[in-house]
Amino acid sequence: MFAQSAALARIKPSATLAADAKARDLKAAGKDVISLAAGEPDFDTPDNVKEAAIRAIRAGKTKYTNVDGIAELKTAICGKFKRENGLDYTPAQINVSPGGKPVIFNAMVASLNPGDEVVIPRPYWVSYPDMVLLAGGEPRFVPTSAESGFKVKAADLEAAITPRTRWLILNSPSNPSGAAYTKAELRALADVLLRHPQVWILTDDMYEHLVFGDFEFWTIAQVEPALYERTLTMNGVSKAYAMTGWRIGYAGGPEPLIKAMAKVMSQTTSNPSSISQWAAVEALTGPQDFIKPNAKVFEERRDLVVSMLNQARGIRCPTPEGAFYVYPSVEGLIGKSAPSGKPIGSDEDFAVELLETEGVSVVFGAAFGLSPHFRISYATSNAVLEDACTRIQRFCGQVG
Ligand SMILES: Cc1ncc(COP(=O)(O)O)c(C=O)c1O
Repeated sequence: MFAQSAALARIKPSATLAADAKARDLKAAGKDVISLAAGEPDFDTPDNVKEAAIRAIRAGKTKYTNVDGIAELKTAICGKFKRENGLDYTPAQINVSPGGKPVIFNAMVASLNPGDEVVIPRPYWVSYPDMVLLAGGEPRFVPTSAESGFKVKAADLEAAITPRTRWLILNSPSNPSGAAYTKAELRALADVLLRHPQVWILTDDMYEHLVFGDFEFWTIAQVEPALYERTLTMNGVSKAYAMTGWRIGYAGGPEPLIKAMAKVMSQTTSNPSSISQWAAVEALTGPQDFIKPNAKVFEERRDLVVSMLNQARGIRCPTPEGAFYVYPSVEGLIGKSAPSGKPIGSDEDFAVELLETEGVSVVFGAAFGLSPHFRISYATSNAVLEDACTRIQRFCGQVG
């Protein structure tokens, strides 16, 4: 009989992928289901990027490449970091992996020893704790709340750091809350980190380009140059360029860490797809003019969803600064009965009942480490969002 390894037994499968898969199955079975569970833009990959990939295939750029990225892409990434973040990296300081996800995992595998701690703010992106566990480390969670805008306070960060802390993982704008740190908020965290030289910072900037209104995006190595020597600035083309399926993520950081990450790749995945790498060169060096209008579309969707959810009985939905998620509270529904008569004892019960009664798939907050909440991904059309939020309002109206 198959028995999974002790290392794998420490982790659980991704709750967001599971929720999306369940919605797909129900849809395939003919049910009227709206999935707001998946975290990917509904826009298509830009044509110039697709054309670059086709050119790469025709030109025979279809062979193994340098393990952690072709020189042309590394140069394009250095250009991006300079242009958009004011950060100087050389190509030797760049890692390209098959998606943002493996960038983070490779960094953890390359650096953690058993018992090493990684500080992770809650709510967190579902994969952080499990990647840390799989790499042999121990996640240490810092709580946040809707009142703090789901952002870590300096005193709470200070309290979470121990002599065993190797990393802090920061994610701004955040999946699942959409919260994004201002320059002043990052400054306050940087002041704590300057006092703890053993702590490295992995900043996951995947949603950098999705910030709204006059919010200005900052990344921590830019706010405090003294942290540059121990920061891995991670990003990717998945969200900004609607390229989730192409699997290209990247990071800039200290050369010894980048070399160690390449060593992990050399014995596991090898290089990311050669064709996708050439497409990413075009994404990062070609026209960028669609990025701002895209963000504007997401901002309008955010406003629609926040407004409609706040009209649902028992739901409170803060207005996030970025990404394409909201993270409302269902505190007002806990302890009551769903329209089916079943009790709502947790945010998971809420999500299950909402799917069964109204066919709306969301992800429950416990999956992200902070209850009682749920996450909606609003990367879909206004018509679908209006339909989904109307169903949620009807569901909440019938909770007794
Ligand atoms: C915060 C965050 N980081 C990283 C990723 C991974 O991105 P990729 O699809 O490039 O692996 C995601 C994807 O959902 C994300 O939400």
